[in-house]
Amino acid sequence: MRAWINGDLLPDATAPAVSVTDHGLTVGDGVFEAVKVVDGRPFALDRHLERLHRSARGLGLPAVDEDAVRRGVAAVLDGDRLPLGRLRITVTGGPAPLGSGRGDAAPTLIVVLDAMSVWPDTTSVATVPYPRNERGAMAGLKTTSYAENVVALAAARERGASEAIFANLAGHLCEGTGSNVFYVVDGELRTPTLASGCLAGVTRALVLEWYGGREVDEPIEVVERASEVFLVSTTRDVQAVARWDDRELPAPGPVTTEVRDVWRRREPDLLL
Ligand SMILES: Cc1ncc(COP(=O)(O)O)c(C=O)c1O
Repeated sequence: MRAWINGDLLPDATAPAVSVTDHGLTVGDGVFEAVKVVDGRPFALDRHLERLHRSARGLGLPAVDEDAVRRGVAAVLDGDRLPLGRLRITVTGGPAPLGSGRGDAAPTLIVVLDAMSVWPDTTSVATVPYPRNERGAMAGLKTTSYAENVVALAAARERGASEAIFANLAGHLCEGTGSNVFYVVDGELRTPTLASGCLAGVTRALVLEWYGGREVDEPIEVVERASEVFLVSTTRDVQAVARWDDRELPAPGPVTTEVRDVWRRREPDLLL
């Protein structure tokens, strides 16, 4: 692991480096990105940085210093041709009073590079009873307030699944804790709209651009009629779902296979 914070590469990436009063630590006042790295090159970095700006704006953080972020990315990648890794870029409100109110210190900027392992081709998912709030202030933002995802994922893992799937307050299919969902009904590839409260996933957007699919919000029960389902994310790419709760699904189904092939063919286009 390599870590860079506020302009400096840390001699020991795991040594303590953030103030105990950092607002990201005390109240989850921060935003982040996870970026795939292949052979030392970041994938779709520009899209991730665009989303980082959007998340920071949505949270009311000061404008992100993109040049500084890019310097941090270059510093952790320098001289290390990691075959498969993950960059984690985090921007927090910086040191602040211990309550919810922000201080006036500069934001904390952190870039970490770590190795990543490949997910299996197929997986299982479990629906969780906690709704995503599509009307909340955090809807669609990639914030460091991810404790709800931690609880949901732990519940899914107890049921032998690798991902938890949320409906939103309207009862519509929304997303996973760290992935977007695609499904096929009547031969049509579909995925929830961004109004569902799901994150505007970089992988989701690329699958829609490179392969196509209809964005639509439907009751989560629609998946009972799905002939195939797959998850998409920075770490999973396109991953077929073989079991959703107690229902077995063909995995990978024919559409999933096609999407995965398109993904593998096009991915190199966006490696910097
Ligand atoms: C809540 C949530 N939804 C969806 C995704 C997938 O987004 P991306 O494809 O940009 O990784 C993520 C990524 O970690 C996520 O945290």
